[in-house]
Amino acid sequence: MAYYVKPDLQKKEPIILGIESSCDETAAAVIRGRMILSDEIASSANIQAKFGGVVPEIASRAHTDYIADVVERAIEKAGITYADIDAVAVTYGAGLLGALLVGVSFAKALAYALKKPLIAVNHIRGHLAAAYLDEPTLKPPFVTLLASGGHTAVLYAKTEAEFEILGATLDDAAGEAFDKVARVLGLSYPGGPHIENCARDGKPVVPMPKMLKGGGGYNFSYSGLKTAVINYCHTKEQKNEKYSKADVASSFQAAAVDVLVEKTVSAALEKGVDTVTAGGGVVANGYLRESLQKACDGKGLKLVLPERRYCTDNAAMIAAEGLVQFRLGNFADMALTAKASIPLSATLRTVQNQK
Ligand code: KG4
Ligand code: ZN
Repeated sequence: MAYYVKPDLQKKEPIILGIESSCDETAAAVIRGRMILSDEIASSANIQAKFGGVVPEIASRAHTDYIADVVERAIEKAGITYADIDAVAVTYGAGLLGALLVGVSFAKALAYALKKPLIAVNHIRGHLAAAYLDEPTLKPPFVTLLASGGHTAVLYAKTEAEFEILGATLDDAAGEAFDKVARVLGLSYPGGPHIENCARDGKPVVPMPKMLKGGGGYNFSYSGLKTAVINYCHTKEQKNEKYSKADVASSFQAAAVDVLVEKTVSAALEKGVDTVTAGGGVVANGYLRESLQKACDGKGLKLVLPERRYCTDNAAMIAAEGLVQFRLGNFADMALTAKASIPLSATLRTVQNQK
């Protein structure tokens, strides 16, 4: 027997509670249709910064401390009661296992107590669904750029739940490269926003490798770029020569972003779509946002970008993907568990009744 009362899948504007705890942000949000009613985040990033990265045990404990309060605040600020929710959507992977388990266990208990369906959301699919919140009329097909800490790819969204990989990184993800280069420049974690700030005072004058520009189909590679930056800084340091960190940051940022913009726009033109979207933490980058906008404008493509705060980890995007799965009636059962890693190919496949 199902633990939930079967909802009307065609309901005009279902109310979805989203819960996210895959890394160091404990987040809860409520959406009605594609409208965000509330969006709450508590972060252990300040504690983590002291360690230069995320310590899984600290993240799990912080989630346990914060989650009940964050969910309560999301419900209150949305101006609804728990009974108004149509489904509870939660990130089940990928991410830190202990951290994910806090959100998954909480969501299971809540869904069970409320007799509402539980929806298992893949974190990356959440990043891809964030664009729907920005544009109520957005509809596939479109080409989308995924650029997060763990994945970087150019995708063709055939429907809301079917994707094709057009190209992807052959090694590091874009966000990973930002984080590693930031460390070399002595900037703190997470590196992306610090590189962006630092780059504002510099010019892209340091030579950078080509990163499969113009070649390699829609694939790209970040390891050569990362190594080039490390070598440049270390050589300067060994020779006791001064160099401008701002110029290095600016040159790296331009090289890392230009290839993404170029390949995304070429893929959109080849696929014959009229719309481009993007998602993932790196899409919060101002230089990327401006470059992609210019490139899309130049080719007459419509660009839908999630607001910056919905590019980095949040629960509204989890609720947005929850809505996609709600329409499909793809509900999880009480055996749902967390998954630390999910390959991109599996992420893009819609799995029925996730466990
Ligand atoms: O999507 P996300 O929040 O987490 C994952 O699901 O991986 O992405 C985190 C990544 C980090 O590598 C971070 O440095 C990068 O996104 N990031 C940025 C910016 N803000 C976050 N990269 C470049 N510029 C930014 N402003
Ligand atoms: Zn993320």
